[in-house]
Amino acid sequence: MATQILLNNIDVPGLANFEVYRQLGGYSSVVKTLKNLTPDQVTGEVTKSGLRGRGGAGFPAGMKWGFIDKKSEKPRYFVCNFDESEPGTFKDRYIGQRNPHQLIEGMILGAYALGAGSAYIYVRGELFYVLRIIEKAIEEAYKQGFLGQNILGSGYSLDLYCQPGAGAYICGEETALLESLEGKRGNPRIKPPFPALVGLYGCPTVVNNVETIAALPWILNNGGEAYAAIGVENSKGTKLISACGHIKKPGVYEIELGLPVEEFIYSDEYCGGIRNGHKLKAVVAGGSSVPILPASLILKTAAGEPRLMSYESLSEGGFQSGTMLGSGGFIVMDETTCIVKNLLTFARFYHHESCGQCSPCREGTSWMEKILHRIENGQGTMKDIDLLVSVSKHIEGNTICPLGDAAAWPVASAIRHFREEFEEHVKLQKCPF
Ligand SMILES: Cc1cc2nc3c(=O)[nH]c(=O)nc-3n(C[C@H](O)[C@H](O)[C@H](O)COP(=O)(O)O)c2cc1C
Ligand code: SF4
Repeated sequence: MATQILLNNIDVPGLANFEVYRQLGGYSSVVKTLKNLTPDQVTGEVTKSGLRGRGGAGFPAGMKWGFIDKKSEKPRYFVCNFDESEPGTFKDRYIGQRNPHQLIEGMILGAYALGAGSAYIYVRGELFYVLRIIEKAIEEAYKQGFLGQNILGSGYSLDLYCQPGAGAYICGEETALLESLEGKRGNPRIKPPFPALVGLYGCPTVVNNVETIAALPWILNNGGEAYAAIGVENSKGTKLISACGHIKKPGVYEIELGLPVEEFIYSDEYCGGIRNGHKLKAVVAGGSSVPILPASLILKTAAGEPRLMSYESLSEGGFQSGTMLGSGGFIVMDETTCIVKNLLTFARFYHHESCGQCSPCREGTSWMEKILHRIENGQGTMKDIDLLVSVSKHIEGNTICPLGDAAAWPVASAIRHFREEFEEHVKLQKCPF
């Protein structure tokens, strides 16, 4: 059984209540840290741990904290990104719903390290039931002296607020999130400046994902080196993977980074193999925004090495033959899946969720949806396939935020690996599935 840092007590009845969480050792990292460590030492432990952001980009957490503008006299903010709207990704809500105190404990540690007196948890609008659970847990933490003025007599004070979004995928992009938190329309900002210098209300801010923050108590309890001892290369610790699609056992799994993909898909400890004796056709390994890979390339790299669940191994081969770990939304497809239809579903999503600020994304996502709709419904031409590639290339790298890339990569990769399936739709003038 892999080390469980995030899900170790997840099935304990009543874990969302303060008493149960505390009895299991909860909040001990806060007691220890506020007594023994300076904020810089906390950042030092997180840097040593090698923890990378679990929201998708995989940026090293300690390094990001190190960028916070400490010379500024403005207040500093720590913000939790609980927007979780990436198709195929459903891990953060599991922590929020079952183990909200672990997230709050992590928020206190992060805010302390950054010298923030106020912190926010921005929760996706559709997850209102989770927001209610977190709000109740925050109330308990205040009552028990873990939030508010002079926490545990340490002299450190923190106010923690929970804010619902209004249900827009783009508000998961960190600068759009900050705009939304300020009460404005959630449009991504042009960067630089990055939030560490100019963030919430123009003040130094760090935004981290739920899973990143929930790993902090373990790191502060056990030390950064112990965390770094788990995993491989620059992929340290554990990662939550939300597995769905045509597998026998969909669900949220905590893996040690470096687990072979084949073991993750086929072993009974995880996905349990493909449903009803079907065959693996393709996998979208890190949420809908990452390139799709056919069975041959998800199980082994182009060089024939076993593919591992790690940042390095999944991206081995670049965009020609690799993909990304992303948010850990692992979507498995068997041979009954129509790749064109799947892509049309994703394209419709990105077109709907584009905030419309940049022309390549606003117009390009609309074009990609229209062309895919034509091909899937038997009205496509061979030229349409190349037109799709061309539109995706004109979006990639030409937009304010990465939503444009996220819309373009799945299209380009699906045509790269499954071109004959697109051509078959055109030849038959209908969907062959
Ligand atoms: C369109 C878009 C949607 C995103 N959605 C989320 C999200 O729901 N949750 C999240 O943590 N990060 C999301 N991100 C990434 C954030 O911008 C940011 O990198 C992340 O919150 C930083 O936290 P981390 O360093 O702990 O991963 C999204 C990015 C983009 C471009
Ligand atoms: S890339 Fe798309 S979502 Fe991002 S800012 Fe531009 S239009 Fe908005």
